[in-house]
Amino acid sequence: MGKPLDDAALDTIFRAARSYNGYTDQPVAESELHAIWDLMKWGPTSANQLPARLIWCVSEEAKAKLAACSSAQNAPKILKAPVTVIIGMDRDFHEHLPEFFPHVDARPWFADPAAREVSAFRNATLQGAYFIIAARALGLDTGPMSGFDNKAVDAAFFAETPNVTSNFIATLGHGDPATIFGRLPRPAFEKFNTIA
Ligand SMILES: Cc1cc2nc3c(=O)[nH]c(=O)nc-3n(C[C@H](O)[C@H](O)[C@H](O)COP(=O)(O)O)c2cc1C
Repeated sequence: MGKPLDDAALDTIFRAARSYNGYTDQPVAESELHAIWDLMKWGPTSANQLPARLIWCVSEEAKAKLAACSSAQNAPKILKAPVTVIIGMDRDFHEHLPEFFPHVDARPWFADPAAREVSAFRNATLQGAYFIIAARALGLDTGPMSGFDNKAVDAAFFAETPNVTSNFIATLGHGDPATIFGRLPRPAFEKFNTIA
């Protein structure tokens, strides 16, 4: 029941937005991290399960710990970015359902740990996408990355919560256009779409 966004907003969120390798010196305030969460949390997840668990690495110590788990290409980006977010996923999200899906006891729907794993991955990945869109909507840029050692990140950041594992990571800041190449092609509707 919303109104379409104007062209400028569509550019900000999709058409002119890019995945950045580096950022300007403009800092990112902690209040902006809260603002991103306060938007992205409204994105839908199955049975409102909200499995994403985010760690916002802002300290030099946290960034160094994360960079040490990352590929040689990605480590310097993490060290230089104002913030790098770890998007983790909680396979025991069902324990929180009485709070977030209170009108029925949905916990038995997720009794099977293997099915929970699939659901956590699917929905936390969606939340990762909501994170990217929310950041862009707030005038920030991101650099999503899967080039890191998930097991090493889990050991370094989620040792106390073994039910949480890493999905992907993303740098965050005000993108520096000098750090990106030309836009890669995207196909027209006909290539990958079918109307049945
Ligand atoms: C889940 C995910 C993982 C990615 N992993 C990496 C990565 O490890 N290193 C990297 O430099 N870029 C990575 N990228 C960035 C993509 O290559 C980039 O988003 C894509 O080429 C499109 O670029 P654009 O958003 O600027 O159009 C990743 C993107 C996503 C969404």
